[in-house]
Amino acid sequence: MSDRPTARVSLDTERTVGPISPLVFGGFAEHMGRCIYQGIYEPGSPQADARGIRRDVLAALRELNPRTLRYPGGNFLSGYRWLDGVGPRAQRPRRRELAWKSIETNQFGTDEFIDYCRELGSAPMLGVNLGTGDIAGAAALVEYCNAPQGSAYADMRAANGHPQPHDVRYWCLGNEMDGPWQIGHLDAQRYAEKAREAAKMMRWHDPELKLILCGSSGTTMPSYPEWDRVALEHCWDVADYLSLHYYASNADDDTPSFLAMSAQFESHIDTLAGLLRYVKAKHRSAHDVYLSWDEWNVWYKDRQMDGGWQEAPHLIEEVYNLEDALVVAQWMSVFLRRCDVLKIACLAQVVNVIAPILTTSAGLLKQSIFYPFALFSAHAAGSSLLPHVVAPQYETKRYGPMPLLDVSASHDEAIGQGAVFLVNRSQTEALETEVRWQGAAPAQVTGITQLSGADPKAANSFARPDVVAPRELAGGPVQAGSFTLSLPPLSFTVLRTR
Ligand code: AHR
Repeated sequence: MSDRPTARVSLDTERTVGPISPLVFGGFAEHMGRCIYQGIYEPGSPQADARGIRRDVLAALRELNPRTLRYPGGNFLSGYRWLDGVGPRAQRPRRRELAWKSIETNQFGTDEFIDYCRELGSAPMLGVNLGTGDIAGAAALVEYCNAPQGSAYADMRAANGHPQPHDVRYWCLGNEMDGPWQIGHLDAQRYAEKAREAAKMMRWHDPELKLILCGSSGTTMPSYPEWDRVALEHCWDVADYLSLHYYASNADDDTPSFLAMSAQFESHIDTLAGLLRYVKAKHRSAHDVYLSWDEWNVWYKDRQMDGGWQEAPHLIEEVYNLEDALVVAQWMSVFLRRCDVLKIACLAQVVNVIAPILTTSAGLLKQSIFYPFALFSAHAAGSSLLPHVVAPQYETKRYGPMPLLDVSASHDEAIGQGAVFLVNRSQTEALETEVRWQGAAPAQVTGITQLSGADPKAANSFARPDVVAPRELAGGPVQAGSFTLSLPPLSFTVLRTR
């Protein structure tokens, strides 16, 4: 008998969590550092088209296929005058941008962003400024985007080249308004009152809007989760989603704990899911509010946030390694396992700023975290299955004993295809893993994609772009409902089934 560690995953296509919302495969693009300028838009670059759009970045983003894109911030949002960013480019003002101490040229704005989303196939998610902005400004932006021609702001849009309404569904009511760093920060009650009045005016322009209320900007905030309770209680009937933000860190270089962070992501959702149930019951309401994790990623290595009053400064250009990719993979598995309550998620951000893609004027680099996002986005569809996992445990400082294996799975009944997403958290041991389907089993594992390596700190660079890159392995028949494979240490594996 082998003494190698073994694990077993049991799946049943009838034991589901619920439908997976495609909007959990979303991204976030902020006017910060080089995300918009030199990332999405760089006139004069050999990679850009006649409109200044970087075709290489657009092509890479198409591989990620973000179903929604949140814009324009972030902390930037709370000082943003959206009127600066529309109309003839020559007349748009250059401004000192206070969130990131940068120069904002406004050469890219709302209309360019909507055009970009259409080209990418992403649903735009716009934020309204509830920092320096007022509720009239929020309503005016909805009129500009969604009203038919025949009123001042809608006619302004038409004059700017967009006669048809942009028809933007998803709207964030401010950004991280709980944070003292936020321009125009408010306490929970004052935020809730302002958000409710903004929502009222915005919906008078367009009753079909889906509105996202600012929740806490992190679990370490002293006001968490009381802020969320106050905001929800006051705005329950006008909100569709409560936002949550979180950035994972391995600043203490404790890889075993870092690789177990999915425990924390799951408990974050649990707390807020409980709060949603509490407020719903308190209001005796039939209405539901869901969660929008509209900023999430690993971020702790590059904390440069002062732009020194430069245009497109290099800010928080985190370099991602293998262990970061394994955390991102597990985070996305949490999205699947909690798809009952989590309906939107936006990877922060999409290019250059804490992003899966880095650019120079000549080309781009896919970072390690590009691959788990692309794989989930391509293969997780239909229903999320509730996996039953039996695996050896290991000790972590932060979370106590944790299983070595992290699992999520999906099944798309319409096309008869499925996927199983597996992370082996061990740094040293391969895990002999049996995936067993109870009830209807697929006939075949049609393909296996795997990201792995010996060094958790290994990272891609422009000089060595393929240090952390997926490899394809052969699948095989599912026999008597079972398929066994060896998962290398520090690995993320996707099984595709039919
Ligand atoms: O994504 C970077 C910043 O992190 C965002 O602007 C802000 O919302 C968060 O604090």
